[in-house]
Parts: sequence; C-alpha cells; structure tokens
Amino acid sequence: MNLFKAYHEVFQPALGDFNRDQSPNNLYQPMQYLLDLGGKRIRPFLTLMAGEGFGVSVKDALGAAMAVEVFHNFTLMHDDIMDSAILRRGKTTVHEKWDVNTAILSGDAMLIKAYQCLDNYPSDIFQKLTQLLSKTAIEVCEGQQYDLDFETSSSVSQEDYIEMIRLKTAVLVGCALKMGAIIGKASPHDQEAIYDFGIQLGLAFQLQDDYLDTFGDEKTFGKKIGGDILENKKTILYHLALKGGEETHINALQTLLGGDHPIDGVEKINKVKSLFEVTAAISATQDLIAYHADLADQALEKLSMGEDQKNRFRELKGWLMQRTY
Ligand code: IPE
Ligand code: IPE
Ligand code: MG
Ligand code: MG
Ligand code: MG
Repeated sequence: MNLFKAYHEVFQPALGDFNRDQSPNNLYQPMQYLLDLGGKRIRPFLTLMAGEGFGVSVKDALGAAMAVEVFHNFTLMHDDIMDSAILRRGKTTVHEKWDVNTAILSGDAMLIKAYQCLDNYPSDIFQKLTQLLSKTAIEVCEGQQYDLDFETSSSVSQEDYIEMIRLKTAVLVGCALKMGAIIGKASPHDQEAIYDFGIQLGLAFQLQDDYLDTFGDEKTFGKKIGGDILENKKTILYHLALKGGEETHINALQTLLGGDHPIDGVEKINKVKSLFEVTAAISATQDLIAYHADLADQALEKLSMGEDQKNRFRELKGWLMQRTY
C-alpha cells in the first residue's frame, strides 16, 4: 500500500538489524524466522503514523514501533502453541518447525527484547511507554486466558466475547497509537481519543479475523482455514448465529462446538460453515464490523489533528476493512 511505502523503507532495515547472528541459534533464529515472514506491520505503522500526527519524526518513533511489532510477534509465537496452529503467514509455525519448548523460550526472550527497543528514549518518555506496554501486556494475557476458558464454556455472552477480544487484540492496537502520541507529547485528551480509535479499530479487526479464519482463502490469509472451529472457539460468528438462528440450527451448532462431539475435522468445518450461513451470522458479522469501524471514525473526530493527518488514518482503516489477509 502506497501510504506505507515510506514506513516500510525505514522499518524493514531496522527489523533486519534486529538480533542477527546471535547465539544460541535456537533462541534467536525462531525470532528472526517469524519476523522475516512479514505480516502486515499494522501496529508499528500506526505508531509511526500517530507519531507523525503529533510532530514526531519517523526516526524518533522507530524504537516504539519496533517494540510493538516485536511484542506482537511474541504473542503470535505463544498464541500458535495455545491454538495448536500449524500455519502462520503461510509458513510452518515456530513450535511445529522447531518444538514447543523452543517456541516458549524464544517467545519469552522476544517479550524482553520488545522492552529493550524502548531503551533509548529519555527517562520521562521511557517511563510512560513502559507503563503503557506493561498494562497492555497484562491485558493481552487476560484476554488470551479468557479465550482459552471460553473454548470449554457454554455460558459465554456476546458481551463477554467482545470484552475478551478487546483485551487480547484491541488494547495493543490502542497502545501502538498511544505510544506515538506519548512521544509527541500530545495532550491527555488526544492521547485518549487516539487510544479509543485504536480500540474500535482493533475490535473491528479481530471480528474480521474471526470471519477470515472460517471464510477466508488459506493462500492469502496464511492461516489454516477452520482452525477456530477445530479448536471450538466461540467466535463472533457463533454468537451472532445464536442470536439470529432457529432452535434446530442453534442446537446443532452447540453440539458441534461443544467439545466432545466425535466428528471428522473437515466434516465439522463444513457443517459449522453452513450453519453460519443459514443463521445469517455472516451478514450480522459484517454489520458489527461496520458498527465498530463507525465508532472508530467517531473517536477520530475528537482528535485535534489536521484533516490531512486524519485522512491517513481513514485511508488505513479503509484498507484494513477490505483486507483478505
Ligand atoms: C494476527 O494479527 C493476530 C490478531 C490479533 C488477529 P495480524 O493479522 O496483524 O498479523 P500479521 O502481523 O499481519 O501477520
Ligand atoms: C489473536 O487471536 C490474539 C493474540 C495473538 C494475542 P487469534 O488466535 O485469533 O489470532 P490468530 O488468528 O492466530 O492470528
Ligand atoms: Mg491463534
Ligand atoms: Mg488465539
Ligand atoms: Mg484468529
């Protein structure tokens, strides 16, 4: 995407220098492997964009941008163990390519490395950035635990689900943006508005991720389609199917995702998919994505930033809402 070309040109070399050729190989190679697989780099670009919006050069926001991307990749390395995922960004996951212990330790080291990316900020900024990152990191862990708990629970409401995805996904998007605002010494009002924009964008983003996990194309999405269904994840599609579906369809869905229903994986995925179709869960999911995208727009309105700057966030949001990967 054009908007990001300038960011890519600065961010990629910085990432390229990250942790090269350190030993032991089995600690550092998995980090490099995962980071080199690419990904959209949304979070670091949001940090750079927010920084620029508040008068910070890309160079000065780079440390924070690195921190959020390295932190994000740490969460992915552990998330793939927890979700028994075999594919990430179209390639074998770290715990499959190496082993689970390697992915645990390499992920732990990545978490520490994320903090080290902030080392060069002046102490007042450093303190604010690390406080925000720590608050965010704990919330991500809470969200990830709820996500696991919900796999085996039958009494999860849609509100519980939204709170879970706010924690596991949206807070990091908010954090990425707020870091740029902190470095730019934005007012508390603007810091809050940009964080809120991130929360709503992050919610829309995770809802889309749920949709793509079931209805995306494996080649472009880069993850195994149907993975959430196999893991009995009660994603937004499930919650909205319960809301709009007939009793027979709801019962069938609850049995299939209940956990102890013996069925072949491919058959399970196909049955759940057609239940999502017949209960109109797909269109309801699209509507909810649009609702949160709208709330993101409203948060953006509250920012005291030029329209040109805001348009860049709008463009980014528009691109994200069309994504297929
Ligand atoms: C994946 O995030 C994890 C979620 C919060 C859904 P991304 O979709 O941003 O992953 P990459 O970094 O682009 O691969
Ligand atoms: C992502 O949740 C949340 C974190 C990684 C913290 P998912 O489990 O839905 O992410 P993907 O689909 O594996 O990327
Ligand atoms: Mg996962
Ligand atoms: Mg997960
Ligand atoms: Mg997912």
